[in-house]
Amino acid sequence: MPIQEADYIWKNGKMIPWAEATTHVMTHALLYGTCAFEGIRAYETPKGTCIFRNDAHIKRLFYSARIYGFPIAYTEEQVMEACREAVRGNKLTSAYIRVNAYLGYGELSPSANPDPELDVIAFPFGRYLGAEGIEQGIDVCVSSWRRAAQGTTPSGAKLAGNYLSSRLITMEAKRNGCVEGIGLSHEGTVSEGAGENLFVVQDGRIITAPLAASILNGITRDSVMTIARELGYEITEQAIPRELLYGADELFFTGTAAEVTPVKSVDGIPVGTGEKPVTKSIQDVFFGLFDGRTEDKWGWLDPVG
Ligand SMILES: Cc1ncc(COP(=O)(O)O)c(C=O)c1O
Repeated sequence: MPIQEADYIWKNGKMIPWAEATTHVMTHALLYGTCAFEGIRAYETPKGTCIFRNDAHIKRLFYSARIYGFPIAYTEEQVMEACREAVRGNKLTSAYIRVNAYLGYGELSPSANPDPELDVIAFPFGRYLGAEGIEQGIDVCVSSWRRAAQGTTPSGAKLAGNYLSSRLITMEAKRNGCVEGIGLSHEGTVSEGAGENLFVVQDGRIITAPLAASILNGITRDSVMTIARELGYEITEQAIPRELLYGADELFFTGTAAEVTPVKSVDGIPVGTGEKPVTKSIQDVFFGLFDGRTEDKWGWLDPVG
């Protein structure tokens, strides 16, 4: 999806013109992948533009940076406010917000600690997996590439370098005519999509892979689990054997970019009968948060002001 430029980028405390937000070629993050990041959405709601779960995203940003031992030179509240400012300052009514907290320029070696940098980029963004995909579902493939094993690069820390795995999985999926790919864990159980968590519906029960299956602890995953429980569904985190993907009644992806997107087929095999009552009921409550049909009883909407 091509990037739609906005006017300004919040860079190390200042809003500067989009084209001036550049970085040195010897930046540590470029050399070694040391960029903790977040992808966040702001939605146009009847109460004005609101960032979805700003606090949870920024908390995860600090968690990711902490695992790799690098500081962020701002407080969580300051970074949340930077996100609001990046949306407001560009007069955006809805946006994708990319927050990059990374090690900057100054020293060579993976363990070096050059000064940290922080960029917040807000820009217009549509449906990542396609508007039709949200309604009809998408075709996906199981990748021959495995997700990084436990005890290697941690999937729970959202670092730019982790997305090399996502690139391999998505490239293979596209070569095979699919919209997205699913990675298996090192043990061969289902992990997640290249940029999404995955949910399986079988006999009215909902199952999703546990954190130890090399997944990112998704904020949309958490939101959907909360919504599903509220709707009365039984939902469990458990190891998912690959064959369940072919025998499931429904499958859906969750993620900030993907939102709640049904899966139509896996490896060319149609999912269930094609009916998606559980997915649709969750989508209804989730998207209802943004058009005012669902009351935000969880305090997930953060107005940009
Ligand atoms: C690998 C991966 N898994 C899952 C997710 C979903 O996480 P979230 O719902 O927090 O966006 C993402 C998206 O950021 C991702 O990149």
